[in-house]
Amino acid sequence: MSDLKIAVVVASTRPGRVGDQLAHWVLGQATTHGGADYHLVDLAELGLSRLDESIPAAMGAYENDHTKQWAALVADFDGFIFVTPEYNRSIPGSLKNAIDFVYSEWNNKAAGIVSYGGVVSGARAAEHLRGILAELQVASVRQQVMFSTGADFENYTTLKSPGESHVAALQTLLSQLVSWSAALKATRAAQVG
Ligand SMILES: Cc1cc2nc3c(=O)[nH]c(=O)nc-3n(C[C@H](O)[C@H](O)[C@H](O)COP(=O)(O)O)c2cc1C
Repeated sequence: MSDLKIAVVVASTRPGRVGDQLAHWVLGQATTHGGADYHLVDLAELGLSRLDESIPAAMGAYENDHTKQWAALVADFDGFIFVTPEYNRSIPGSLKNAIDFVYSEWNNKAAGIVSYGGVVSGARAAEHLRGILAELQVASVRQQVMFSTGADFENYTTLKSPGESHVAALQTLLSQLVSWSAALKATRAAQVG
């Protein structure tokens, strides 16, 4: 039991998606790494609609129950690992939509990115995500883990056992993320106090 809670977010909600396999691998590695309690957050299971709040999230006046529930879930975490595919050179709409729903619950937290895709292993999606997170005052750690759907999956569908370089990169990401999540938790506490 740690005083830090980190979510492994499954960004793809597509039937037949491969992202859930990757997220489960990340969760297993993270649990072994320690330093925080890690939990899977699957956007496909949240039941979020498309954004249906009439007031921008930064105003903090959420109207809908699903928004309030999502806000409470995000608020409960100190850090996030976004497991995201690349769709049309960016993140999937499912992830952007979920991010846009709330605001202050993201602020002054840390994130790591595990990306995947067919062309450049999701690198362009990850770069877009870093910009979005900056707007939300989420600090994304330097280390990134990237998977090629061609090389790292059988027939683009079944995750092969990740090799040493992927394991090492994820361990570095986790170390960076735990450190920044703890630092920003202290920052939030100082702001409230
Ligand atoms: C709508 C859509 C757009 C895509 N665009 C890209 C792309 O721009 N670059 C890329 O490398 N792969 C692209 N792909 C391939 C996905 O990265 C690949 O199918 C991956 O498995 C999707 O993740 P998921 O199976 O977890 O949904 C795209 C896939 C979809 C469904």
